[in-house]
Amino acid sequence: MSLDALARAAARPAGYAAPLSDAARRYGVLPMPNLAWTPEVERETAHLYEKVKAVMPPVEWPFHAPYVKAINDLKRERNAVILAHNYQTPEIYNCVADVVGDSLQLARLAGQSKADVIVQGGVHFMAETSKLLSPEKTVLIPDSRAGCSLAESITGADVRLLRQQYPGVPVVAYVNTSAEVKAEVDICCTSSNALRVVESLGSDRVIFLPDQYLAKNVQAQTKVQIIAWAGACEVHERFTAAEMLRYRADDPSITIIAHPECPPEVVEVSDFAGSTAAMIDYVKTKKPKRVLLVTECSMADNVASETTGVEFVRPCNLCPHMKRITLPKILESLVYMREEVTIDPALAERARRSVQRMIDLG
Ligand code: 13P
Ligand code: SF4
Repeated sequence: MSLDALARAAARPAGYAAPLSDAARRYGVLPMPNLAWTPEVERETAHLYEKVKAVMPPVEWPFHAPYVKAINDLKRERNAVILAHNYQTPEIYNCVADVVGDSLQLARLAGQSKADVIVQGGVHFMAETSKLLSPEKTVLIPDSRAGCSLAESITGADVRLLRQQYPGVPVVAYVNTSAEVKAEVDICCTSSNALRVVESLGSDRVIFLPDQYLAKNVQAQTKVQIIAWAGACEVHERFTAAEMLRYRADDPSITIIAHPECPPEVVEVSDFAGSTAAMIDYVKTKKPKRVLLVTECSMADNVASETTGVEFVRPCNLCPHMKRITLPKILESLVYMREEVTIDPALAERARRSVQRMIDLG
């Protein structure tokens, strides 16, 4: 039977289809595992339910557990690792991910992994960054439509025009950009190292793209003049200072921590601002009694499942792109080896330099 016929013959979760990938031709397609809720599945996944039970009622577990077991079995068969961003749902973050973290941590660990295959639990620019740092590995994204409003706000041609407009001014790109954009800039940054990257360039002016709010939040901490692109994160730009002040009026003792993709007025009324990993670290080390996490919804679930004694208040804004990644799609990814992330090697070489320069800063 041909690989295509095998792929058609295997059972598939409804609602999503993509053509057989080149990776499927190289690695072969595996049969779709049995997804029944059996005593064996219950027994083998019981320790994983323990990790999510604080945020998942028992009635939901029989729907997730067969996928969790099948994915963990297939990871071994494919010598694959799952890298999951902090915004992935609790069943992905806690039950199938091998590595979890913010963009910088995932980028670093992608390069260190010994696996043959990386499955990215996150959005497309993160999968591209993994491919840049692990060109020899097969990188899969379970749904390539998982984009990002920041990455989509700018192209490589836009960066070339900016360089013409501001000759000689160095260009910093947030990692939330396509490989095509990374190939045109001098260095990348993430929300955890943006200030350090900007100041490392020894220039009194820097072009910073594409997040206007991260740019303003960095500007508030440096004398370097920042020329910003007008992109925004569709999740974080919706938070307002008025909303934060209402929470504070209700409970003056509440701790507010925000992601620096939020508008500066929101960051100003917060007690702390940092990358998703820095926010998690803050909660775990400072253990505030009640905390408002001003970021994507799933993060509060993920920190809550790992932390006791902290009450989480969740102004719930979902990232629709992150939520495209689900257990059924991760399973399909490993069965059909899709969707493979590829980058033109010449472009990848230039884009990798920008990411590596950031990593080399330490
Ligand atoms: P972090 O690097 O802080 O994880 O942020 C990535 C992101 O997309 C936040 O919206
Ligand atoms: Fe992009 Fe915002 Fe979603 Fe992060 S939360 S992936 S910045 S759209």
